[in-house]
Amino acid sequence: MAHRIAVIAGDGIGTEVMPEGLRALKAAAKRFAIDLDIQTFAFGSCDYYLEHGKMLPDDWFDQLKDFDALFYGAVGWPAKVPDHISLWGSLLQFRRRFDQYINLRPCKLMPGIQSPLAGREPGDIDFYVVRENTEGEYSSVGGKMFEGTDREVVIQETVMTRTGVDRVLKYAFDLAQTRSRKKLTSATKSNGISITMPYWDERVEAMAEAYPEVSVDKFHIDILTANFVLHPDWFDVVVGSNLFGDILSDLGPACTGTIGIAPSANINPEGKFPSLFEPVHGSAPDIAGKGIANPIGQIWSGAMMLEHLGHQEAANALVEAIEAVLAEGSPNVLTPDLRGQGNTASLGRAIAERIEGK
Ligand code: NAI
Ligand code: MG
Repeated sequence: MAHRIAVIAGDGIGTEVMPEGLRALKAAAKRFAIDLDIQTFAFGSCDYYLEHGKMLPDDWFDQLKDFDALFYGAVGWPAKVPDHISLWGSLLQFRRRFDQYINLRPCKLMPGIQSPLAGREPGDIDFYVVRENTEGEYSSVGGKMFEGTDREVVIQETVMTRTGVDRVLKYAFDLAQTRSRKKLTSATKSNGISITMPYWDERVEAMAEAYPEVSVDKFHIDILTANFVLHPDWFDVVVGSNLFGDILSDLGPACTGTIGIAPSANINPEGKFPSLFEPVHGSAPDIAGKGIANPIGQIWSGAMMLEHLGHQEAANALVEAIEAVLAEGSPNVLTPDLRGQGNTASLGRAIAERIEGK
């Protein structure tokens, strides 16, 4: 049966890297005989907003809910629409309404990429950050009182539910179980945040009992961020609450070089709703329209999507093609952020040709 994929390119370089993401996907679909039914949507972009006064049509949920996955480019064009409107009106709606409670980011140092961490080579950095994506510190419970007076009070509560904590931990342990090192690191701060974080630790210990093969450690978030920089080789699967995961999922990919290559997934593991796959980067207004954006973040996100849809071999082929083209390092092929003189299309084409086995 065909996998139904909804494509939303969005804004800026989102519209430039998406064709290369699709080129790679189609190449993999052909080689591995995967049936993809791809449908493109114009909403979820700032141009759509300027025309319709909203980022999404009123029936977006019904239009998208039966897709198997959403393949997103990037959203945002601050000169046309304020970021809080474009982001909250699109991406954050999908994450919430489709209960994409896992945010997953691989942090892998690729060949030919110079890590900002001195002396690191491919193989030294290869881990995942799993972020809780729906509750925790990012709650709307709280308020403001006595505004503008000396008695001004602001309160925002952290919300952790057993369901919410256990389901992200289960996902992270399951992922660790599939990896060769089978190691899980939990981000905590139970020395300072004395109610919710000890609870998080308690649930980690409880979950660990069901995974005897997975070795577990934990760090307070402050030293954990330091260790990402000092000892990235220590990590395999790192799991954190919404806030801690947010920080780690930017820091991790930053340790592996250019933002142009980092992918991410927002996942509803049960498949009750579609999951969303997108590059980490935004719409990059500073380089948009020049055709020089690095398409690898989009292509790698496509690999994560294929993996989610059950096509591990095809996903591996995509990642291997990216690695091969980066290792080759041809200046005519690579984009300027990789110190090449090529462009979005030359890099996308080179990867697609590898996938096809040319
Ligand atoms: P950005 O990621 O768009 O750009 C940051 C810097 O990285 C820029 O100098 C840009 O040229 C460079 N860059 C990004 N992607 C690149 C690529 N593929 N190849 C080469 N260079 C690349 O972040 P910025 O400038 O803070 O945000 C721009 C817009 O994107 C804003 O409206 C923001 O809200 C939105 N945004 C959207 C995201 C999403 O759709 N998930 C994520 C981050 C930002
Ligand atoms: Mg972030």
